[in-house]
Amino acid sequence: MMAELNPKAKTNEAAASSSMREKPVYDPTAPSAIEVEHIVKKYGDFTAVDDVSFSVKEGEIFGLLGPNGAGKSTLIRMMTTLIPITAGIARIAGHDVAKEPNAARRMIGVIPQALTSDLDLTIEENMSIYAKLYDVPAKERKKSINELLELVDLTKWRDAQTKTLSGGMRRRLEIARGLVHHPRIFFLDEPTTGLDPVSRVAVWEMLGNIMEHRKLTILITTHYMDEADRLCDRIAIVDHGKLVALDAPTALKQSVPGSNVIEAQFENSPADWEQRLHSLDDVTSVQHEGAGMYRVLTGNGSRTTTELVEMAVAAGVPVKSLSVQNTTLDDVFVHYTGRQLRDELQKPYAFVMPPRPGLQP
Ligand SMILES: Nc1ncnc2c1ncn2[C@@H]1O[C@H](COP(=O)(O)OP(=O)(O)O)[C@@H](O)[C@H]1O
Ligand SMILES: [Mg+2]
Repeated sequence: MMAELNPKAKTNEAAASSSMREKPVYDPTAPSAIEVEHIVKKYGDFTAVDDVSFSVKEGEIFGLLGPNGAGKSTLIRMMTTLIPITAGIARIAGHDVAKEPNAARRMIGVIPQALTSDLDLTIEENMSIYAKLYDVPAKERKKSINELLELVDLTKWRDAQTKTLSGGMRRRLEIARGLVHHPRIFFLDEPTTGLDPVSRVAVWEMLGNIMEHRKLTILITTHYMDEADRLCDRIAIVDHGKLVALDAPTALKQSVPGSNVIEAQFENSPADWEQRLHSLDDVTSVQHEGAGMYRVLTGNGSRTTTELVEMAVAAGVPVKSLSVQNTTLDDVFVHYTGRQLRDELQKPYAFVMPPRPGLQP
């Protein structure tokens, strides 16, 4: 992948501006942009989405968080009228997607998981084609394209051929392109998967910028915990087609027993070490992550740390490293699913970028 052409200083500047977006307080009485009720998708005997219900309020950034195969893309495809729903209802701005698909489509912009911009066209041409496809009147087209290229920080590359862009820049082009017809509800399926960390942050910042300039509701899927935590007002955790938790990131973290996580690595820890760590005061869970590394959730970080070190010294077990942090969404995921998301991802995401665009539906 080509190096990011975007100057770093610009990214930092954008970071400073978009971190100002304040997460709105959830208001259950606010109008819903998206409503999903007991939605099910079956492929033969296999249930890819299993009785999921949630609603997204206007102006929210709502995250679907889950491992590969959880059903995130299937959910998006049903909500955006791309595949039929087996059972249940999805409404977009009040329009039942099964009964009024065209009305629903007029409200939405969709960025699919695979990159779909045309490599032989320039950035501007890619934008322009989409604007025509969506019947954006000629005089509005130019204005909309200019405004969006500015928002995603691609103005100076507008005449560059898309194949010369880095993955992060292409993603930003596609985000801009998906907004060219002024949708009210924007669906993004794993917009940052496969991007390097700097490009990922740049994409978050772009989304923050866009939210400040347009009246928009965003539904975004991701398997990155940090991204969901930082970007989303509320998060639905999905696993094996089921919704396992739904709340604001801070509330999700508070819902996990224990408020601190101690990560400690020991040398030659004995076989019963996990149990012994578990028996310390305030400890709510212990996970052995291999190589002598333990992740200990506790309601009292400082007290447990002291006891843990004392126990290690008394047992003659050297402590190689130790850190105390607040609980993260990783802990939330483990709490609700019994597994760690990162383990889950290692295999499927060895090859993150499709070999050529448009290969996946
Ligand atoms: N067209 C299809 N036919 C059969 N199974 C499918 C199809 N599309 C997706 N699936 C299966 O449904 C499950 C959910 O897939 P998907 O929605 O792509 O998950 P995610 O986007 O969370 O990675 C997976 O087990 C996947 O293999
Ligand atoms: Mg997917």
